[in-house]
Amino acid sequence: MFPPAALGLIRKMTDRLDGIRVLITGAASGIGAACARRMARDGARLLLADLNGEGAKTLADELGQASVQADVTRAADIERMLDLAYQLWGRLDVVFNNAGIAEVRPLLDVAEEEWDRMLATNLRAVFFVLQSAAKRMRHQSPIAASELRGKLIQTASIAAYRGGHSHMAHYAASKAGVVSITGTAAQALAAYRITVVENLQVYRTRFGANTPTIEPNLHRAVNIELRRKPAWVDATPEP
Ligand SMILES: NC(=O)c1ccc[n+]([C@@H]2O[C@H](COP(=O)([O-])OP(=O)(O)OC[C@H]3O[C@@H](n4cnc5c(N)ncnc54)[C@H](O)[C@@H]3O)[C@@H](O)[C@H]2O)c1
Repeated sequence: MFPPAALGLIRKMTDRLDGIRVLITGAASGIGAACARRMARDGARLLLADLNGEGAKTLADELGQASVQADVTRAADIERMLDLAYQLWGRLDVVFNNAGIAEVRPLLDVAEEEWDRMLATNLRAVFFVLQSAAKRMRHQSPIAASELRGKLIQTASIAAYRGGHSHMAHYAASKAGVVSITGTAAQALAAYRITVVENLQVYRTRFGANTPTIEPNLHRAVNIELRRKPAWVDATPEP
């Protein structure tokens, strides 16, 4: 899971994320994998989680990082994945809540099971990963040289705002939900010094392909406010 032989083989590009501990879901391919590569080069310590455990492990071995097989639609897997992060590091600074699926289906043909599967992965799972991570993060000390306890990043989509196209109604609806819970969580968790943002993947990319073009986008999402003092809302923590 943590191949020490690989440590030191990865050439660091910057130290912008030095020592920052990051859990990435959906890390075996596409956006998650591209972000893992970039964050590793910037000095982050990573736990790469994916339904595809072999894919996550292969990348983790290459980058000298840790991996875990997890299906984020299953509550037990979410807990196991977060348990592992806290066993490894005793804390978690960033969760990149990114795992998702897409499906092309004409609006008039979307079946109930297709709707349910889409919402279970892209919205329900995203909410419970966020909730479980926040429950743990609120008890940890702030990140070094920061007032933040942690940061939660969800991968939404431009489809959330413009309704997707006519063949992705269920996908667009799931991402609109991600935008909504991100906004609510940002307010609910501000008092704990946990920031919550969405990462809008606005580039057109092929699903399943490695997508290095997303790097600047994600990099912005991770770094904004991570070390800067945010403007906290005057809120009372939820019990
Ligand atoms: N590619 C794009 O153009 C684009 C645009 C907007 C948003 N997004 C979003 O970006 C995220 C990543 O997409 P991608 O393009 O990298 O796709 P991808 O298919 O390359 O990667 C998604 C990863 O998530 C994993 N995954 C799927 N279901 C899972 C589950 N239940 N538990 C754990 N892991 C699971 C897959 O195994 C895969 O490795 C998704 O949320 C997607 O909706 C992508």
